[in-house]
Amino acid sequence: MSSQQGLRPRLAPQPALTMVDLHPAPADMARLVNEGLSRTPKQLPAWFLYDSEGSRLFDAICEQPEYGLTRTETALLRRHAPAMAAALGEGVLVEFGAGSARKVSPLLDALAPPAYVALDISAAHLEQACRNLQQRHPTIPVLGICCDYSLLEQLPEQPLLAGQRRLGFYPGSSLGNFDPHEAVTLLAQFAHLLGSDGRLLIGIDQPRSAEALEAAYNDRAGHSAAFARNLLTRLNRELNGSFDPGGFRYEAHWQAQESRIVMALVSEHDQQVSLDGTPWRFAAGEALVTEYSHKYSPQAFIALAAEAGWRALERWSADDDSFSLHLLQPFPRRPHQADSGPDLQRGGRR
Ligand code: AVJ
Repeated sequence: MSSQQGLRPRLAPQPALTMVDLHPAPADMARLVNEGLSRTPKQLPAWFLYDSEGSRLFDAICEQPEYGLTRTETALLRRHAPAMAAALGEGVLVEFGAGSARKVSPLLDALAPPAYVALDISAAHLEQACRNLQQRHPTIPVLGICCDYSLLEQLPEQPLLAGQRRLGFYPGSSLGNFDPHEAVTLLAQFAHLLGSDGRLLIGIDQPRSAEALEAAYNDRAGHSAAFARNLLTRLNRELNGSFDPGGFRYEAHWQAQESRIVMALVSEHDQQVSLDGTPWRFAAGEALVTEYSHKYSPQAFIALAAEAGWRALERWSADDDSFSLHLLQPFPRRPHQADSGPDLQRGGRR
C-alpha cells in the first residue's frame, strides 16, 4: 500500500573498511628479479608467488589432504581463542600476511578488538578478504594494507590505531619463508611495529618425517606445482618474459640439515629466457628456488625469537606436536640503556 517502507533509510550501521595500497612498484619488482636471478642458486622473493592466481592456488593448497598445517592451526585457534584473547589483552589486532584471512574470526570474536588491520601483498585478494570479514564482524572497523610487510617501517598513521596497544598475529608459519637470519630481522621489525607493550601470536610448523613434509609440498592433485609454475606466468606477463612453464619441473625436498623444505622449478634442458630484454641462461637440471619453508621445534623457535627481542609467554600445540602457536612479549627494556647500545634489546625500541 504505502511505499514509505521502501524509502526509509537503512538503519544497519555501515561498517568501516579502509584500504591502503603500498604495493612495490614494477621497477622495484624488476630490480628484485634481476638480483634474484643473479644469485646461486637462482631465487626470487616468496611474495612473487602471490598474484591473484597465486593467492587462489595457495588457498587450494591449504585444502589438500597432504597439507595439514591449515587445518591444524585453524583447530587450535577455534579451541583456544578465549585463552589466547585473555593472554593478549586489549588492543588492535594486526595480521601479517592475512591472505584470505580465514583464520582470524575466532580471535576477533573472543577479543572484540577496537580494530583489525590486515597486511598482505595480494591487493585484490586482500580487499575481498577484508570485505568478507567486515560482513562477518560488522562492529569491528577493518583496515587493509597491501604491502611487502617485511619492508614496512611504520604502520600508516590512521585514527583507528592512535593510542592503542598492538597485537600482532602471524599465522601459517609464514616465517618459514625467510632464512633464519632474515627471520630474526623480521621479528625484530615486528617488535618495532607493535611497540614495547605489544604482543605477537605466531604459528610455527615443526620438523617431522621427510615423507610427510615432502608430500605436503607436492600434493597429488598438483596444486603445489601449479602454484610454483604460476610464478613464471606472472614474470611473462608483468616483466615481459619468455618463460616456457612446461620447460621446468617442480620439486620439493626436505633438507634435514637446514630444517627446511626447498621448493624449486628445475630446468628440463639447457635454455635461455629473456625478461624485459635481459637474457638469463638455465642449464639442464638448474633450479630456480621459488621458496623455502623452514621448520622450527618449539625450543629452536623460542631461541630465534629471543634474538629478535621477544620472550615466550605461552604456547598452544597440536596433539601430534606438529605445530604450535606461540605467544610472545617484548623483553623489557633495560633502564638507562643507550639507544646505540648492543642490538639485544631491539624489541624495546618504541
Ligand atoms: C605460506 C609460507 C606458510 O611454507 O607452508 C605451501 C607456503 N608453499 N605450499 C608454507 C606454501 C607451498 C606456506 N607458507
